[in-house]
Order: sequence, then C-alpha cells, then structure tokens
Amino acid sequence: MVYYYRRSSHEYTLITTNWCSFVSISRSERMRTVRLGVNIDHVATLRQARRAQDPDPVAAAALATLAGADGITVHLRSDRRHIQDRDLELLRQTVRTHLNLEMAATEEMLDLALRVRPDAVCLVPERPDEVTTQGGLDLMRVGNRVAPVARKLASAGIQVTFFIEAEPSQIRQAKKLGGQAVEINTDGYSKSKGRRQKSELEAVVRAARLAHSLGLEVHAGHGLDYHNVGKIAAVPEIVELNIGHAIVARAVLVGLDRAVRDMKKLIN
Ligand code: PXP
Repeated sequence: MVYYYRRSSHEYTLITTNWCSFVSISRSERMRTVRLGVNIDHVATLRQARRAQDPDPVAAAALATLAGADGITVHLRSDRRHIQDRDLELLRQTVRTHLNLEMAATEEMLDLALRVRPDAVCLVPERPDEVTTQGGLDLMRVGNRVAPVARKLASAGIQVTFFIEAEPSQIRQAKKLGGQAVEINTDGYSKSKGRRQKSELEAVVRAARLAHSLGLEVHAGHGLDYHNVGKIAAVPEIVELNIGHAIVARAVLVGLDRAVRDMKKLIN
C-alpha cells in the first residue's frame, strides 16, 4: 500500500506501507494512474485441464473489464497449453479497452497477430519445457530475428513491447530495434526478499528511468502479487503493469470482480 502526505499544493511525499520509503514527488506524478493489464491465461489453464469449455477466458475478460481492468493480456504459446486461437479471435471482437498479446517472435505468431490485430504485442522468449516465461529477451543475441517481426507489427499499427531484464544494455537495444515500449521483468524482484529485493527494485527503478529518457513507454510484470506490487507501481515512469497468476489465484477464492478491484486499489 502507498500513502501520500501533501507537503504543498505541488509536492507530495510518498510513503510505502512498511514506512521505509519516503520519496518526494510532484503533483502530476501523484495524479498519474497506472494501467492494469489483467493476464487471463490461467483461466484457460483451468479449462484446458479438462479439455472442457469452462471457464471461458472470454467471459473472464468481460468481468475483469467491468471490475476496472484497463486491458486484457494473453500469451498465445506455440504449444497452445492455455489460450487457444479461438480465444484470441473472440477477445479481439469483444475487448474494447486494450488487448495485449504476448508471443514469441515466430513466423506463425506474426501471421496470427497481423490477422487478428491486437492493440499491442509483447515479444517474449519462449521455451517448450518452461512452466512460465523464464527471463526477458536477450536482445543482443536475438535482435536480428526479433527486429523484422517488430517492424512488421509496428507498420500494421500494433504497439510493440519487448519483455526484457532491467539492464541498461537491453533497454538501449530495445530502442535501437524500434520498440515503442519495454516491459521490465519483475520476476527477480518478486522472488527475492530483504536486501536482495531492495537491489532488484533499484535495478528496476534505474531501468525505468533510462527507458523513459529514451522515449520508451515503460511497463512491468511477472510474479507481481498483492504484497509486492506497491513498490513497483510507485516507480514514476511505469505506466502499465501486467499481472496474471496472483489475480486469477485470488479470483478462485473471492471472485474475479473483487480480485481485480483489490489489485486496482493497490496500484493507484
Ligand atoms: N508479463 C509477461 C511478459 C509474462 O510472460 C507474464 C506471464 O505470462 C506476465 C507478465 C504475468 O506474470 P504473472 O502471471 O506472474 O503475473
């Protein structure tokens, strides 16, 4: 949780719940809102566990939107383990806020994205044996393969985001390759505690500042939950968070409406 102490008409002090961070911020930053992209992959995971029709991620997207989600995010994986092509097509017809497609930079996914036309594509690394996305794209290594995909998406009017680690070299490379936004991987921050977490947070803060100074829109995500999201949401340059597992896990117990509303309260 984040509190604001009003110091003057232009300046606020931001205090995080554990009372260990005091940061002076301007009125415009105080008024900034962070967009919440709700990742509904795991609604589809539950459906695919029985190869059944329910629960339907398309219905989940509508409920999340009614509860205040600013966008819907899905990862269409090459192995189709959760989200299916049919989901993406129906989501494109029904999501009126912002549809963000996470995908690997392959020919198959590029063709699909150009046909379905989500509002944004977040390019991610993908390994068949991983449980979830492991680490950001290494743009120095895969830049040549990813750049033409990014160019074709951008020419079709789709916002291109690179999912990367909080490293200056990756941020600079994202800019060189024509990315419009970066999504900073918060997995290291989310998994760590104490001093390690503090240094992971500092790396995210530095990366966000650098990306913003280069004109890139700054997003963040992976591993964020109701306990650790506050400090990431408070980073002034971050304008969008993509959160999945924690929201769907809470929704199983308290319902999706409340799970989305609880998260919205925490990030703004
Ligand atoms: N951002 C990216 C690029 C991801 O691959 C994922 C997982 O699909 C998320 C955000 C959401 O992560 P989580 O489910 O841990 O909230």
